[in-house]
Amino acid sequence: MNHKKHIIPKIKGLLHGADYNPEQWLDRPDILAKDIELMKQTQCNVMSVGIFSWSTLEPVEGQFQFEWLDHVLDNLAANGISVFLATPSGARPAWLSEQYPDVLRVNSARVKQLHGERHNHCYSSPNYREKVTIINTKLAERYSQHPAVIGWHVSNEYGGDCHCHYCQTEFREWLKNKYGCLDNLNKLWWSTFWSHTYTRWEQIESPSPIGENSIHALKLDWKRFCTDRVANFCAHEIAPLKSINPDLPTTANLMEYFYDYNYWELAKSIDVVSWDSYPLWHRDSDEAALACYTGMYHDLMRTLKNQPFLLMESTPSQTNWQPITKLKKDGVHLLSSLQAVAHGSDSVQYFQWRKSRGSVEKFHGAVIDHVGHANTRTGREVTAVGEYLQQINAVAGTGTQAEVAIIFDWENRWAIDDASGPRNEGMHYEQTVCDHYRGFWQQGISCDIIEQLCDFAPYKVVVAPMLYLIKPGVAQRLEAFVEQGGTLVATYWSGIVDEHDLCFLGGFPGGEGSPLRRTLGIWAEEIDSLYDHERVAFTMAEQTDFSLSGEFKAKHLMEHIHLETAQALAYYREDLFAGCPVITKNQIGKGCAYYIAARTETAFNTLFYSALADLHGLRQPMENVPYGVSVTTREDQQSRYLFIMNFMNESQALKRPCGQWIDVNTGCEVQEDMIIQPYQVIVIMNKK
Ligand code: GLA
Ligand code: ZN
Repeated sequence: MNHKKHIIPKIKGLLHGADYNPEQWLDRPDILAKDIELMKQTQCNVMSVGIFSWSTLEPVEGQFQFEWLDHVLDNLAANGISVFLATPSGARPAWLSEQYPDVLRVNSARVKQLHGERHNHCYSSPNYREKVTIINTKLAERYSQHPAVIGWHVSNEYGGDCHCHYCQTEFREWLKNKYGCLDNLNKLWWSTFWSHTYTRWEQIESPSPIGENSIHALKLDWKRFCTDRVANFCAHEIAPLKSINPDLPTTANLMEYFYDYNYWELAKSIDVVSWDSYPLWHRDSDEAALACYTGMYHDLMRTLKNQPFLLMESTPSQTNWQPITKLKKDGVHLLSSLQAVAHGSDSVQYFQWRKSRGSVEKFHGAVIDHVGHANTRTGREVTAVGEYLQQINAVAGTGTQAEVAIIFDWENRWAIDDASGPRNEGMHYEQTVCDHYRGFWQQGISCDIIEQLCDFAPYKVVVAPMLYLIKPGVAQRLEAFVEQGGTLVATYWSGIVDEHDLCFLGGFPGGEGSPLRRTLGIWAEEIDSLYDHERVAFTMAEQTDFSLSGEFKAKHLMEHIHLETAQALAYYREDLFAGCPVITKNQIGKGCAYYIAARTETAFNTLFYSALADLHGLRQPMENVPYGVSVTTREDQQSRYLFIMNFMNESQALKRPCGQWIDVNTGCEVQEDMIIQPYQVIVIMNKK
């Protein structure tokens, strides 16, 4: 098992803190002084500073004002509080928009936005790029050796696209680079359809509600281009920082499976992944589904760089932007915070330290409310998280060894959503990935969340729900993975189009001569879509090596498949495809490939993956994990940590794994029979 990896070289333990905006309080030195005292009281050891401070740092073009920041950083350093120093590009001063209007974003309807809000600059604007370079250089020169500063928080939540003339030109250049000539582009974009053939590059425009929308490949390329643009902008921001101090790590705060960009590309521009997590606890009566979803997002963040990540933001109490801004029930703040650590985070950080007095976030939860002290329910809960993190400090830098990888692929998602058919009321790709993930989550089996370009070799099992778009070489790599002993699970609506969104000819999945069809041993002839309320029964076959029997239901989508070399594990019992196989298994080389031809329900997935885990000998840290309890593992060469989390509002009984285990928080030895209280989290450790 791997050595510890400390993602922030200056820090060897867990971080606890918040976004801090002292620039809002410069006329209140009493409050700034109190902040330090309260940070210590609430056990905070890190602050993210400067995220939206540009107009205070450079109030007039070219006139910089750093004294206030000197003072804040010196004070934090003197009190042992570290800082992620932000580059301020997430929002800009009014003079910048006024003087250089090309920094303003143009929306897809080609309307130029007015100054205001945030996260809305053009990624191509030469003026914005220049101004960002200047301010970032100044910050790096002044602070990159500052004792408080442990890393760069680059911009804030990059998002969106811009359709201005600079971006259109960049897009055309990007396309020229990719396709070489228009003939090639026309062919691969299938542009004879509706007479869309292009005869000059200048005719090509980004997608728009009042213009081009029918060429799927164009839309997919636009998404890819926007990803490249943001990654390029991020790299542009980072260049001056690294040229001054190459050792200071950079992070950018990501968001879930954010729709706009492929995070696998953006993650390459930064050293450390961080993200902002705002689950809507207490929305549903059954909290397990949301807990699972959140766990899946955390796993993606860990997998992106195969190392610990940071929980850069979460709310210490409630948000102000969700439809219903609920407070967390007793215990849930600690549980939700430690869930991030359980999946690989080396920090618990909040938005925000202190509530602003005015503007749009004045009612967003903060460690310090308008009352001005921490003797509040939130203050106590935050302090409890800080204290708990100190108890489990040794977890920092430990890793997660997943035997299972689930593919969630951005380009595949964009292509599925844009496909026009077969189910325009919802293909639910993201939910489907989570439904498969849940089969493992419920058993405490760690999963990595990968994209189709990742290496499959480290895993025993690869699950590829709805891998509609297959890039060159992927089917071959999946075949090699199975032949060498891996287990693949694929589903309906896989291997339908290539990377240009052109359908494969000669029989799905994968088309003519495709290794995917050979690997799976089936041919998928047609797919039926069901209305939301419809269900179609299928029955598990008798006498197979797969220990699952009985009848289950298919929903949303079901395929009509034919066995080629595969064996059927289940058959449709009714409806159009009655008697046809619905679940199959194909043995090739040393491994095997399962195919699930219809969308199944969570209850089935849990049983299916539990049978699969037994059959293929997957490591399970605990047996018989009760419903709604999640168990994750972090480990290094010496120690193994289990995070046991009860997301249900009732206590549950479980058995500790064999061996000697210590409750890390209490220091007591763990008894064989364990009880976990409602919303409780228990961290136990054993020496290897
Ligand atoms: C995002 C932003 C923060 C803040 C929070 C509120 O995550 O990054 O600046 O607006 O949302 O939840
Ligand atoms: Zn632009």
